[in-house]
Amino acid sequence: MDYKSMSVYQIWPRSFCDGNGDGIGDLEGIYAKLEYVASLGVDCIWFSPLYPSPNADFGYDIADYKDIHKDYGTLAQFKKVLDKAHSLGLKVIMDLVVNHSSDENVWFQKGIDPNSPYHDYYFWRKGRGKNGKRPPNNWLSLIDGGAWERNEKTGEYYLHVFAKKQPDLNMDNPRVRNEVKDIMRFWLNMGVDGFREDVITLISKKEGLPNGFPLPAATGMEHYFNGLHVKEYLREFKEDVLDKYDCFVVGEAPMMKPDTALEYIDEKHKTLDLMFHFQHMEADCFLMDFLHTKFNLRKMKKAFSAWQKKLDGKAWNTLYIENHDHPRIVSRYGSEKYRVQSAKMLASMYLLQKGTPFIYQGQEIGMTNIDLDADKFIDIFAKNNSAVFKKLHFSQKWIDRMVKLSCRDNARTPMQWDASENAGFTTGTPWFYVNPNYTEINVKAQEDDPDSVLNFYRKLLAFRKENEVIREGKYKEYCKKSKYIYAYERVWGNVRLLTVNSFTAKGVRFEAPKGYDLEEGELIFQNYAKTPIVNNGFMLRPYETRTYLFHRS
Ligand code: GLC
Ligand code: CA
Repeated sequence: MDYKSMSVYQIWPRSFCDGNGDGIGDLEGIYAKLEYVASLGVDCIWFSPLYPSPNADFGYDIADYKDIHKDYGTLAQFKKVLDKAHSLGLKVIMDLVVNHSSDENVWFQKGIDPNSPYHDYYFWRKGRGKNGKRPPNNWLSLIDGGAWERNEKTGEYYLHVFAKKQPDLNMDNPRVRNEVKDIMRFWLNMGVDGFREDVITLISKKEGLPNGFPLPAATGMEHYFNGLHVKEYLREFKEDVLDKYDCFVVGEAPMMKPDTALEYIDEKHKTLDLMFHFQHMEADCFLMDFLHTKFNLRKMKKAFSAWQKKLDGKAWNTLYIENHDHPRIVSRYGSEKYRVQSAKMLASMYLLQKGTPFIYQGQEIGMTNIDLDADKFIDIFAKNNSAVFKKLHFSQKWIDRMVKLSCRDNARTPMQWDASENAGFTTGTPWFYVNPNYTEINVKAQEDDPDSVLNFYRKLLAFRKENEVIREGKYKEYCKKSKYIYAYERVWGNVRLLTVNSFTAKGVRFEAPKGYDLEEGELIFQNYAKTPIVNNGFMLRPYETRTYLFHRS
């Protein structure tokens, strides 16, 4: 499948569009909005989990891998959505969460019994010490304190590197791998076009589950990040199933560096087609979103450039600046005060790079974080992180600030369709707060405005399709040392594209690099009306973006 020419739109179903008025987004709502998605100029939809789930982690805790959550509809409705998407020229990929399941999955329920064939689907172990009252090892969960939970009936503990309700699947068990392959076949046979594989680089745990190096958080992670057998298991999925279908797979890889990534995505021996990595999303935080710091443009540029360079000619990159796990990008790397300008600037900043872009629902209209009191946020990461930092005696004020800045709920507020009540998301009571700025920021208002963020995205996505330089062009960064400007060129044949992006409200001057005469260029993307050039350079206004195209004979 030609995923290299695609752009992908991510739908987080609960907040996209409610078709039946119960306040929760669903397949009926999605069905009604498919023309809108197609109108953006994207080629594929990624659905965050649609499966039955107790929603401890909003679908990333799957109770049944071969069905649809009743809040969203039925399998038959899903099939209708799939067929309509295909008829509109849109591919569809499913989220596949197999590092862990829900504790309400029948595999887990049956497997509590040590004699059940499902017992070995998970990591059940006896406790240490007298009466086995100490967990089997010292691992800490990535979000939930200890990584082990004890079952009172059997006295055994199960491993969960995420929340308690997300027990880790034992991928070393060939029967579990067969289940995964079976799930893949189920959806591929129905017609889906691939998968986004959740935290897939975590699926192989070190044999014997030895104690981890005692870090303050997530002790033990060195024993399951990029574990010994991950690539072997991914190869098995590929050879036994994926290679037999016209499909593609994008794997999520926390804490990944480009050199290690190549071990997975190098065209010569790839086990994943694409990979989601995080380095460029860490320019305003330390280790995790929760530990928010001041935005550092140089850190962001360095990450983007490293991935552009190291993958060039060897592997295919992904491009994204938003998804359901991060606050809204305008509020993070841009400016709410210069919302329209910065939303457009951020769009050209990443969409002109090399790779397959992903756009998250609402990003295309420049949605922002929501201004709520910290205790109104419900996401499990925010809740658990708050508890952890409270125990470590951080002040409530500091914790509340981190929650507001970093909470994933910021990106999970209902989609803003129009200026009617509840932003046109539902006729009922929305399951979560609608951002009150919907009266101003919504799809309808932007459809009618040729200068809107929405239409800017459309233009960029169309440009990507029509210009080989986007797919093939060499990348080179300029003004590397600047704390305010991100500029780079893409060069392909006699076409040269230069994009200049300001990340500040201050005025900063940009000087054309050697060999460029700006007067010769065609200004193809900009977010201000007047665009003077003075002495082969210009003053960048707040969050200004300008892209010039040059043809050389
Ligand atoms: C991934 C998902 C995130 C989820 C986590 C555990 O990072 O994107 O939403 O909480 O995995 O499944
Ligand atoms: Ca609904």
